[in-house]
Amino acid sequence: MQLTEYEQQMRDGLHGKARALALNYQIQIGQVFGAERMAEVQRVHAPLTQLDGDNWFIKEFLQREAKLDIIATTNPVYDVNYFEQIGSPEPQEYVKLISEVQDRFAQIGLMPSFNCTPQLEANVPRINEIVAFSESSAVPYVNGILGARTNRESAKSALMAAITGRVPVHGLLLDENRKANVLIEVKASLNHAFDYRLLGFATGKLMGNNIPVFTCIPNNPSPEELLNLCTDINVSAAVAMLHIVGVTPEAPDVATALGNKKPQHTFSITDEHLDEARQSMCDFEHAKIDFVMLGCAHYTLQQIKVVANLLAGQHLAQDVELWILASPQMRDTAKQMGYLDIIERSGGHIIGGSCSVMPVWDRRFDGKVGVTDSLKLKFYNSPQNMRIKVMSMDSCIDAAIKGQC
Ligand code: F3S
Repeated sequence: MQLTEYEQQMRDGLHGKARALALNYQIQIGQVFGAERMAEVQRVHAPLTQLDGDNWFIKEFLQREAKLDIIATTNPVYDVNYFEQIGSPEPQEYVKLISEVQDRFAQIGLMPSFNCTPQLEANVPRINEIVAFSESSAVPYVNGILGARTNRESAKSALMAAITGRVPVHGLLLDENRKANVLIEVKASLNHAFDYRLLGFATGKLMGNNIPVFTCIPNNPSPEELLNLCTDINVSAAVAMLHIVGVTPEAPDVATALGNKKPQHTFSITDEHLDEARQSMCDFEHAKIDFVMLGCAHYTLQQIKVVANLLAGQHLAQDVELWILASPQMRDTAKQMGYLDIIERSGGHIIGGSCSVMPVWDRRFDGKVGVTDSLKLKFYNSPQNMRIKVMSMDSCIDAAIKGQC
């Protein structure tokens, strides 16, 4: 591994023990992947949990006086602030542990964004920028929509990148590894943002960890439609890079996206594939429901606004709960703009900084029947004792008002 003079000093401990430790780990990771050098990063998304492994890891660096110089956002966490609102309190000892871990995040300098859509709001990379992002819905968006460059980092490798401001150069940081090798001809009608979720899931089932190039996607898809595609493609695959002709900066046309090579596979995605995807993720077709959960990935302000418009002047059916997940910052903005008030008056809630797979939700929805617009949410919650149907946001809100779908 070729190091610059500054990186060699870092390795020798001249810039602190924490940086030396982190860089040495990164050199070993880089060697595994054949990296020949490091690249500078100024932007990281580190999805650290409050589980033992991540806590131990942060403590190791704090003991060596680590302090971040760059922006590092964080994924949703298990946050004591919303336990009371959800009405599912944890044992006191656990609340204490969670608070301690959050203090550690602050001590090291992690930004408490607690969101899974940093690339849309708090931490937006520019085109061609090398960054270190984790989160399966964010990584294909960063690479394929924004045209920045990241490998699929782990919580720990992202934290080390935040400490050193470096990443080993391999994988998707290199031009030759970013080309598509599978052609996806979209023949399905994409009339609704929800259809992009179904397209993502249906495509993911064909992909493994290949790189798709999509053709025939309607002009000018919205950020939310693209987020839906990037979120639900990784329910059934491990796609870190995708191309959409006319959207991806590296895909002005199909030939360029494919690196002027023939695709290894060509697939057409039709309306039937979308319908199959929807049906495969529904535990029932019609039922009386107990809850609606939206915001996996976290809802944008635009999505919250649409929900508020759908709910304005109406009330949820008796005994039906509506929970919307968003970043704490987006919840504050929704409050300032009056959307939160409309949603709360109808009986719904916006929770800032939570994730749909956290145990508070398992307890709250134990034995219940619900609907969501997220295939990812349905997939992750399938092992729990709840029955879920996936359908569009509008249909979810309609079901919340009628109490059934
Ligand atoms: Fe976000 Fe959790 Fe869903 S991190 S994408 S709400 S599984």
